[in-house]
Amino acid sequence: MTLERWLFSLFLLLVGVFSKASGAFVGINIGTDVSTLPSETDIVAILKAHQFTHVRLYNADAHLLKALAGSGIEVTVGVTNEEVLGIGESASAAAAWINKNVAAYLPSTNITAIGVGSEVLTTIPNVAPVLVSAMNYLHKALVAANLNFQVKVSTPQNIDIIPKSFPPSTATFNSSWNSTIYQLLQFLKNTNSYYMLNAYPYYGYTRGDGIFPIDYALFRPLPSVKQIVDPNTLFHYSSMFDAMVDATYYAIEAANFSGIPVVVSEAGWPWLGGAREPDANMENAETFNNNLIRRVLNNSGPPSQPTLPINTYIYELFNEDKRPGPVSEKNWGVLFTNGSSVYPLNLGTSGQITGNGSAVFCVAKSDADSDKLQDGLNWACGQGRANCSAIQSGQPCYFPDNLENHASYAYNDYYQRMQSVGGTCDFDGTATTTSIDPSYGNCIFTGSSNSSTSGGLLPPSALSPEVAPGSWSSNLQISKLQLLISAAFPALVLL
Ligand SMILES: *[C@@H]1O[C@H](CO)[C@@H](O)[C@H](O)[C@H]1NC(C)=O
Ligand SMILES: *[C@@H]1O[C@H](CO)[C@@H](O)[C@H](O)[C@H]1NC(C)=O
Ligand SMILES: *[C@@H]1O[C@H](CO)[C@@H](O)[C@H](O)[C@H]1NC(C)=O
Ligand SMILES: *[C@@H]1O[C@H](CO)[C@@H](O)[C@H](O)[C@H]1NC(C)=O
Ligand SMILES: *[C@@H]1O[C@H](CO)[C@@H](O)[C@H](O)[C@H]1NC(C)=O
Ligand SMILES: *[C@@H]1O[C@H](CO)[C@@H](O)[C@H](O)[C@H]1NC(C)=O
Ligand SMILES: *[C@@H]1O[C@H](CO)[C@@H](O)[C@H](O)[C@H]1NC(C)=O
Ligand SMILES: *[C@@H]1O[C@H](CO)[C@@H](O)[C@H](O)[C@H]1NC(C)=O
Ligand SMILES: *[C@@H]1O[C@H](CO)[C@@H](O)[C@H](O)[C@H]1NC(C)=O
Repeated sequence: MTLERWLFSLFLLLVGVFSKASGAFVGINIGTDVSTLPSETDIVAILKAHQFTHVRLYNADAHLLKALAGSGIEVTVGVTNEEVLGIGESASAAAAWINKNVAAYLPSTNITAIGVGSEVLTTIPNVAPVLVSAMNYLHKALVAANLNFQVKVSTPQNIDIIPKSFPPSTATFNSSWNSTIYQLLQFLKNTNSYYMLNAYPYYGYTRGDGIFPIDYALFRPLPSVKQIVDPNTLFHYSSMFDAMVDATYYAIEAANFSGIPVVVSEAGWPWLGGAREPDANMENAETFNNNLIRRVLNNSGPPSQPTLPINTYIYELFNEDKRPGPVSEKNWGVLFTNGSSVYPLNLGTSGQITGNGSAVFCVAKSDADSDKLQDGLNWACGQGRANCSAIQSGQPCYFPDNLENHASYAYNDYYQRMQSVGGTCDFDGTATTTSIDPSYGNCIFTGSSNSSTSGGLLPPSALSPEVAPGSWSSNLQISKLQLLISAAFPALVLL
């Protein structure tokens, strides 16, 4: 990734502060410079299969915003850099933008923020003089539409506008931007919004010429002789990510502002690079992103702000193979376009949407071993007697056609039917429960409030003869495989 990527990203986030004490979340950026992008419906299915609860778009794509309706996923939409100038010069252009790209989709698509431009100060500095004016006009249009409490306005900036981010305690914004930064912080403060930071330890490390150990960039423990300490505060920085976020808090403070949360609108690591980009590799990307998720979900803030969670959007969903630049530039995606993970990615219990009430679904874990997943799927559709017709070719849940999606459907159907008689959501450790309804498009998961069969699924008294207690124990033909499976899935024993 050249400067260009730095230069190009965009967006924003939403915050715990605002969603009242709910834990930190990990969202995902969706860039679309992809030669074979899945359909919008498939993208939403993929997001749900991986339990993403927050997405950031770089524009306001009508098809995707429509497909996200009713998904429960929170969305940050983007004003593109090309649009900033026009909006900054015209209140009516801003109002038209809000009507067309935000108001038209609410409330079914849960748009909660607008990211104005992508790293405007470092990418298109000539537009900087009207950046905050664009934000103000957009905000006023939201106020007029009575949407200002639902939708925040911010602007993602590159960490490079803080020329020296280490030690964090001495960080200040580049003084060339004095007046813009002042207006920006004033705006964020007045509107209860957030500072959006694009923070890339990958660049901090690769451009650092060996100043920082790679373990520091990858959130790995540092040997005691290599602790990274801010000499002024004596705070220990366990990761470059923490230091970048803290530098931003200190720079805001140095500008005499406080109480503006920082949300990381982009952070990630490329999994493939050219011959001269040896650090862009699968192992580092897997380490970085999984440690990043773990770091964010522990809910703590950086050393100077220990109680402020660092909500973060991973960069990015799919590889953008059409982006110009070096090989690494095109290889930041965490999923293939068929929905399978590039490397195991454990999103844990990221920002659970509580959704409606108490429905609990059972889905495949995104980092599950594929052999175990296949066994679990076979078992659920076979011995487990899940109704797997919806995942057959031509049926509504067939796409995305991958193991994880199919297993999720089958596991959930089994679980909804058998939970009341002791069926568990385990499948040899490949399954997990969620309160997020995984349904998408016409694919309605069993137990969804939209499912015709929801509610009255097979109460204990209604066990069909095939699964009535005793029927299996009387079957002397139980194969070795079945025995192995029942050992793996103790729920069976109860039947
Ligand atoms: C459920 O049904 C409602 C109303 O028919 C619809 O708006 C919503 O999109 C559906 N949700 C899913 C997940 O299909
Ligand atoms: C949209 O997201 C906000 C912020 O988390 C949440 O409070 C609200 O309930 C969501 N709205 C819908 C309709 O899901
Ligand atoms: C500050 O920004 C100006 C304008 O983009 C740039 O020329 C200058 O090099 C930056 N200063 C530092 C210390 O990075
Ligand atoms: C920016 O503000 C700082 C602190 O107020 C001041 O020292 C500096 O001269 C200003 N820079 C410019 C370019 O106005
Ligand atoms: C912040 O406030 C201090 C004390 O009032 C003042 O000396 C300093 O110039 C201010 N800094 C900026 C960037 O306005
Ligand atoms: C959360 O992460 C921070 C930063 O890495 C670390 O200092 C802290 O000990 C962690 N807290 C828990 C409870 O794991
Ligand atoms: C939420 O649950 C309640 C009670 O279970 C139900 O009446 C209502 O229709 C549900 N709302 C949605 C959007 O599913
Ligand atoms: C299985 O599910 C399909 C819908 O996917 C439904 O039409 C069919 O009736 C179900 N079969 C049974 C036996 O429940
Ligand atoms: C998904 O696509 C990737 C890359 O093209 C491929 O390696 C993988 O086998 C595919 N997975 C499935 C389940 O089709």
